[in-house]
Amino acid sequence: MTQAHFRHFGEAQRDDWALIDARFRDYVADAPRRVLAHLNNLAGDTHGYPVDRYEHCLQTATRALRDGADEEMVVCALLHDIGDDLAPANHAEIAAAILEPFIDPLNAWMIRHHELFQGYHYRHYFGLDRHAREAYRDHPAYARTVRFCDDWDQTSFDPDYDTLPLSHFLPMVERVLGRPPFGGLPDPVPETQREQD
Ligand SMILES: [Fe+2]
Repeated sequence: MTQAHFRHFGEAQRDDWALIDARFRDYVADAPRRVLAHLNNLAGDTHGYPVDRYEHCLQTATRALRDGADEEMVVCALLHDIGDDLAPANHAEIAAAILEPFIDPLNAWMIRHHELFQGYHYRHYFGLDRHAREAYRDHPAYARTVRFCDDWDQTSFDPDYDTLPLSHFLPMVERVLGRPPFGGLPDPVPETQREQD
């Protein structure tokens, strides 16, 4: 049996959930491939920038790597703009949600807030407060988010930079996104265990 046949959850039995759980684990394990496919969606239109978002992401990761950032941070740098094609007005939320199950909560916070922090470099051109990020000065992820944006993100629009190819980062992505999400999925309860309502 490769598929359950209940019509609603009230009909589902333990074996159905065991089957679905096994299929779900395969689906979770394949997530890095789908995330990278999404990164590929950022190639093409530059939207007026000197490089497209795909090149920008690779360049951000390359700079982080060359600055000695740890592997998780390099992966954050590579994937920090995924979702930009689906949610151009709040893509940071998407990138943070995708990475959150696998990374330090402070790094997830960094990704979630990177748009605002990056805004230090352009918000004043739109009549906005470029210092808005100062509201978070006391947050434990403030310093890393400033460094991420100032040193790697906002600097990574250089068409002549010696950017590393995606293949260089693939093993890192597989290791980080290959971690058990949120520390591990709950296992199905064994048949022998008493059912609880
Ligand atoms: Fe970026």
